[in-house]
Amino acid sequence: MVQLLQHLILSIAVFLFEASHGTAFPAYGSLGGLSERQLEEIVPNLRPRVPPPPPGPPAFTGAKLVDDAAHPWRAARKNDIRGPCPGLNTLASHGYLPRDGVASPVQIIEAVQEAFNMENFAARFTTYAAHLVDGNPITDLISIGEKTRKTGPDPPSPAIVGGISNHGTFEGDASMTRGDAFFGDNHSLNEPLFEQFKDFSNRYGDGFYNLTVAAELRHQRILQSMATNPEFSIMGLRHITVFAEAAFPLNIFVDGRTDKPQHLPLADAENFFKDMRFPRGFFRASAPVSSEGVESVFTAHPVPAGRNVGVNNFVPDNRLGGIFDFCLFYTQFINTTIRGLYPNPTGVLRRNLDINLKFMFESLGPTPPCPQVFPWGEN
Ligand code: HEM
Ligand SMILES: *[C@@H]1O[C@H](CO)[C@@H](O)[C@H](O)[C@H]1NC(C)=O
Ligand SMILES: *[C@@H]1O[C@H](CO)[C@@H](O)[C@H](O)[C@H]1NC(C)=O
Ligand SMILES: *[C@@H]1O[C@H](CO)[C@@H](O)[C@H](O)[C@H]1NC(C)=O
Repeated sequence: MVQLLQHLILSIAVFLFEASHGTAFPAYGSLGGLSERQLEEIVPNLRPRVPPPPPGPPAFTGAKLVDDAAHPWRAARKNDIRGPCPGLNTLASHGYLPRDGVASPVQIIEAVQEAFNMENFAARFTTYAAHLVDGNPITDLISIGEKTRKTGPDPPSPAIVGGISNHGTFEGDASMTRGDAFFGDNHSLNEPLFEQFKDFSNRYGDGFYNLTVAAELRHQRILQSMATNPEFSIMGLRHITVFAEAAFPLNIFVDGRTDKPQHLPLADAENFFKDMRFPRGFFRASAPVSSEGVESVFTAHPVPAGRNVGVNNFVPDNRLGGIFDFCLFYTQFINTTIRGLYPNPTGVLRRNLDINLKFMFESLGPTPPCPQVFPWGEN
């Protein structure tokens, strides 16, 4: 009885707190771009965690059944988060990632290695780049997309809880199967665009998504955005991911038992992109993979980094680097993008950002293209 009363009083207190403060800020909400006032309000209510170091490559990196009994597919429930990445969506729907779509960087790296045989440096680079711009460095959590349920008018705004769907950070324009943020929804599968994906696979790949299809479809989507989106931009990180993501499905969505590498059957593509599901009985790749083939996707139609200044007016702009200049990309990503999101971090926020910046730098490999950049000085 006493316990029940205590519980009741606690519930009322929590209710009153939330009513007077707007809805509680979610533990996975991105902190990038918040004002100092917002940070002062939000950060003390978050449970801090020291980010643990990323895992190395797993001991066994051969093909194996990953659509197994321990990882049954389940449709996303009402409050589960899904987003712009067909790879991560699939892993959440099979329980390789938490099914609610909220994970730590270490969980993401472990999941993409275990279920997709993603190469260790690529997994670390992609994950820490995303976490630094779209994650919550205090709680060490990131969401794989947008929560459809609104979370209240005061902070958090929907953009703040957008996770990797946040436009202009990691998510960007000219995606193969998602619309540009300028036109609204930038994270859900877009039916007409998926029809175009199939049409190109039929026209250039005889019913398969292969390297030729990847190069042509990649270019087609860039041309479409140039012609219609006045705010179209492929600069910095996006100039790299826009080509890498066209190559990912060739290596990562192709069954590891195949005798035809980089040859993805349309039915399998449909499983991943539409249903967020492995093809039945799927085996992961037979060796660690990531964006192999990206050079030929790029060289088939080498579009420089740049942006539209009004429709049909693409202006090359290399200020944030890109495929041509990885060192410039890295330097600007840290010194301009991340410092822009976090101009003056202090306390635990600063400590955890520094830890994640180090993890990202180390993901560049044993011979990094340039020295580590410290956006707020070295200590
Ligand atoms: C390692 C952690 C990963 C993170 C943080 C991540 C994040 C993202 C993000 C933010 C996007 C949206 C970019 C955009 O198109 O605007 C994206 C797209 C994409 N991701 Fe991932 N991803 C990861 C791993 C993977 C894996 C393992 C695959 C497996 C194939 C994958 C396949 C794709 C593809 C194909 C797209 C492009 C979708 C399209 O153009 O329609 N990703 N990813
Ligand atoms: C892009 O997606 C994010 C997250 O879902 C959303 O907050 C944002 O409003 C979208 N951008 C536009 C221009 O609609
Ligand atoms: C893709 O498939 C088409 C049709 O079979 C073929 O002509 C083309 O050479 C293939 N591309 C590659 C890179 O294998
Ligand atoms: C980072 O930006 C600051 C301020 O603009 C500048 O002083 C510094 O030289 C930059 N660091 C690098 C490595 O570019």
